[in-house]
Amino acid sequence: MDGPSGTGKSTVARRLARECAVPYLDTGAMYRAATLAVLRAGLDAGSSDHDVVLAAAQARIESGTDPAAPRILLSGEDVESEIRGPEVTGLVSAVSAHPEIRELIVGRQRELIASAVAADGGMVVEGRDIGTVVAPDAALKVYLTASDEIRAARRGAQDRKAGRGADAATVLAAVRRRDHLDTTRPVSPLTAAADAVVLDTDHLSVDAVLDELRRLVGERG
Ligand code: C5P
Repeated sequence: MDGPSGTGKSTVARRLARECAVPYLDTGAMYRAATLAVLRAGLDAGSSDHDVVLAAAQARIESGTDPAAPRILLSGEDVESEIRGPEVTGLVSAVSAHPEIRELIVGRQRELIASAVAADGGMVVEGRDIGTVVAPDAALKVYLTASDEIRAARRGAQDRKAGRGADAATVLAAVRRRDHLDTTRPVSPLTAAADAVVLDTDHLSVDAVLDELRRLVGERG
């Protein structure tokens, strides 16, 4: 499942995984944890410095795959809450644009997917390049989208719930900035795979999106 932020991707991906009783992988959390490692090393995460690549490459990132309790560990520490903060969110697109960092993280993602498929028969994976790069042979590819304004409103509501209030204009600008960076980077830019089912969630509730996903999963057996 791919798409920009604020499309409801995480919510529906987790719920779908629970319903299908398969593991779930939040690939964005891995890039966020790598960004936190770069910040903790005291480096300028926005730079193209080789040290940035090294710090991210050496980060010990472990991803939980339980959809009921997703968690991400950095060197054994649970950083689930810290990686959602504004500092990491503002820099993650710069860190994830490094081809060397992507290659490494994509390799780990493919290992997790392969073992989940072998053990559980499948996995729900969400990110930006899952259908195009990480799992091009996925049985079902879904690309969720929505207008910038609606996505920013959803993101703002989520942030407020987490106690991180920001005004609407700032959230909209941040969403647009991240979209721009993610869609224009030279390596694995955010785009729908040619064979993805594109769902515009502007006027769809989470339940309506899930209904459609259930139908698609049923169709593919
Ligand atoms: O999904 P989330 O908003 O947590 O992703 C954070 C960032 O990680 C994205 O904006 C993008 O820069 C990067 N990302 C990526 N490829 C993925 C998942 C996330 O480049 N598969």
